[in-house]
Order: sequence, then C-alpha cells, then structure tokens
Amino acid sequence: MTPAAGAGEGDRLQKVLARRGFGSRRACEELIAAGRVRVNGERAVLGRRVDVDHDTVEVDGVRVGVRAGLVYYLLNKPPGVVTTASDPQGRPTVVELVPLEPRVFPVGRLDADTEGLLLLTNDGELAHRLTHPSFGVEKEYLAEVERRPTLVALQRLRKGVVLDDGRTEPARVVLVPPNALRITIHEGRNRQVRRMCAAVGHPVTRLVRTRIGPLAERGLRPGKWRPLTLAERRALEEATGSGAGAGGDRS
Ligand code: URA
Repeated sequence: MTPAAGAGEGDRLQKVLARRGFGSRRACEELIAAGRVRVNGERAVLGRRVDVDHDTVEVDGVRVGVRAGLVYYLLNKPPGVVTTASDPQGRPTVVELVPLEPRVFPVGRLDADTEGLLLLTNDGELAHRLTHPSFGVEKEYLAEVERRPTLVALQRLRKGVVLDDGRTEPARVVLVPPNALRITIHEGRNRQVRRMCAAVGHPVTRLVRTRIGPLAERGLRPGKWRPLTLAERRALEEATGSGAGAGGDRS
C-alpha cells in the first residue's frame, strides 16, 4: 500500500473507476460504499485516493488496470511480419504496424509465417497474465494441414502429444473439413501448434490465430489494428482475474 495515496494524495477512487468505465462518479461511489472495491487487498472506503502507478484496485475481486497512458491494440498480423521490436534480417515487424508512441510490445509471439490476432500493449502486468501458463488463457487457431486428418490424429491431439519439450496439455480440436483443424490451447510453447500437428503426421500449411481469451475479431483486414474497447479490456481482466495463476503479483 502507498500510505500517502490513502491519506490524501493521488486521484479519488471514484474518479479513477469512472475513467475506467465503471459508470458515473456517483455510480462508482455506490460501488465503493457497497464494499465491492478493494485497494491493495483492503476494502476501500469513500474518500479513498489512489496512486494509479502503484496501487492495485479490484472491483468484485477482479483487478482493474488504472494506470494512465496504457494502450491496447488488437492487430491482425499478416504473414511475413516478425513479432519482435527489430529484426536482424530486416523483415517488417509488428511494432511498425501500430502507432510509435507510446511504445508498445507484442504480448506473446506468433511465428513469422503465422497470421491472425496479436495484442500489443504497454501494460506489462496484463501481458504477464496473458502469457503465463498458470493463468490458462485460451488461444484458438485455425490450422490448415496436409491431408485430411484422421480420427486417430484428432484424438492424439486432444489427449496431448509428446514433443521434445514434453507432453502437451489436452487441447480442444475440431475438424474443419476438408483439411483444417480448429485447435484451442492454453499453453504458449514455441511453435506449439505446428509441432503438435507435425507430430501426428499432418504438417501445417497455414496457421491463423482466431481468438485470444475473450478477443475474437473477424473484421480486421491483415495488417490493420484497432484499440480494444473498454468492454474488451474488462473481459481480458476477468479472463486473467482473481484466483487465477500463481505468477500474478497482486500486492
Ligand atoms: N503455434 C505455432 O506453432 N505458431 C504460432 O505462431 C503460434 C502457435
């Protein structure tokens, strides 16, 4: 806790919550009065002020990102663009496709050849929650593969396949005829989907990420991005919210 903030410095809690989309200041005061808001783990009282850079705010047990200046972009990554800040081979990078300022970084990685949804942000805590396997955020992919997969291959993928870095967790796998698979996983190992499909005899010919937790967007053209809506930001916070994972620093 930041004693100075609680004791009279910082922004009023209802103002911070209103800015974050929890309704009017009056409605936010009611949330606080109803005991639904915690600051640094303690039930907040009316009149509470918070230091948005240091204090942790939760509403109904779900952490709320309150820092000013945080941005969240959802990009439809085209093939051939790398998910790093700079590339020694001079290939285009995902950060060149979104605004330069404030500086953002990609959350997790897609291979250069992989297409589809990628989140870029300057919110390190949310990025940690989205990528840490203990939070189990689902990612869904559409994988076009060589030849029509057999039932046996589907069952193996569903149960988990042994890769050189260990057995994969059970996955949801649905055949999309004639030769594509919709695969939902919550791990994020390097080239995981490609390696899983290759391991069951169906190498991937095209891979598209179609969903990140609650974020599924079909209308973005390749190379285009848009900011997340408030509802999407809150859905992400819920997907990575209270009780999930061991790696979250909630203090
Ligand atoms: N799995 C892969 O194999 N590649 C990606 O880019 C993402 C998931």
